[in-house]
Amino acid sequence: MIRDTLTEDAILPLLRDLRIRWQVHAYGSVASTNDAVRRLAESGAPEGTLVVAETQTAGRGRRGSTWASPPGGLWLSFLLRPHLPPERASGISVVVAVAVARTVIEECGVSARIKWPNDVFVEGKKLGGAMVASVGEGGLVVGVGLNANVPEDQLPELSWYEATSLLRETGQRVDRAMLLARMLAAFETRYFSYRSPDHAELMNEWRELSLVIGESVTAVVGGETVRGTVFGLEDDGGIVLRLADGSHRKVLPTGDVTLSVGV
Ligand code: BTN
Repeated sequence: MIRDTLTEDAILPLLRDLRIRWQVHAYGSVASTNDAVRRLAESGAPEGTLVVAETQTAGRGRRGSTWASPPGGLWLSFLLRPHLPPERASGISVVVAVAVARTVIEECGVSARIKWPNDVFVEGKKLGGAMVASVGEGGLVVGVGLNANVPEDQLPELSWYEATSLLRETGQRVDRAMLLARMLAAFETRYFSYRSPDHAELMNEWRELSLVIGESVTAVVGGETVRGTVFGLEDDGGIVLRLADGSHRKVLPTGDVTLSVGV
């Protein structure tokens, strides 16, 4: 029987050797871990403030959608204060997605890939997602939702994609405290690399894990539909599409963009 306790006592010792001083607040139930971190940020909390909850009663996904958060999932948010120029801050979403995908590949053996901007897919099904929002001066709230030990009959019905969980894919429960610690370790390595001048390796990793590079896609950007082939991934988190007329169009991972593979 695997140990799976998502308490501060279970999590903190696993974070001891990490570079960021993670400060963990673990709850049974909250409205949204994102809101909890935002409140802490507004009262001056430092980088590394992290909120994790067993369930959320008002979890949200990108573009304001409802994010189902039953027990067994990994629902967390954390605060960064990278003080990056705005055009590079959006690239943090890439760093998060790469870290989440890499962690579940290495720890759980699933073939995770990233559907731009920051959905994590396994075998065509959505395993989790991440979102990044700004708070105050130079702060970012990163929210991650991962259907870890969520049984199949409690997975949400998504309108666009089927949802999956690690439990469904592998038949095994995972120790979420351990998975969280590995994810944070994977994240911080890439976060420091992203902030250094040379982050080519990170960008290559993103391209390798990307489900969209080379694919024909339809992007809806603020109500406008753009069709093209994904030609490049850029270090601000944007993608470059080659359109039918041969021109190029860059699309940034802003809050109101959606992307579907296929035209
Ligand atoms: C998406 O794929 O749309 C992003 C989903 C992000 C969900 C997480 S769960 C923890 C945190 N709290 C929230 O309310 N949302 C994020």
